[in-house]
Amino acid sequence: MTSCCPALEHAAGAALCRIEDIPDGGSLSVQIDAQPVILLRRGMTVWGYLNRCPHFSVTLDAAHGAVLTYEAQVLMCAHHSALFRFEDGLCIEGPCQGAALDPQPLRVAAGQVYAADSKPRSALARLGPRSSDR
Ligand code: FES
Repeated sequence: MTSCCPALEHAAGAALCRIEDIPDGGSLSVQIDAQPVILLRRGMTVWGYLNRCPHFSVTLDAAHGAVLTYEAQVLMCAHHSALFRFEDGLCIEGPCQGAALDPQPLRVAAGQVYAADSKPRSALARLGPRSSDR
């Protein structure tokens, strides 16, 4: 099993992290719009899920902020050991078997990981009231 570091926060439009910041086969905790999100990586593939177990709607991590993974295949909820697949967040074993984690769409560009709906900060700054709103 591997663990990760405390949650990283990011500014709107900024990269969440570099791909290599996520341990290969492991996890990294980040915040997206004040929501705790777990990033998982296998090779150059990255998945994101809201850090909320479907069993009791609590975060998956142990008290020290680590989310455990096993053999680059599954992550384990620290509370009752439910196992969730990297690929689709489906619980394959445990008290919430058949339920799934909420996916967080991501995009990867130039080795950086972004929330899929994040916009560059400069684009947001240019958005103002439409002429029809005046
Ligand atoms: S709270 Fe996650 S398995 Fe029970």
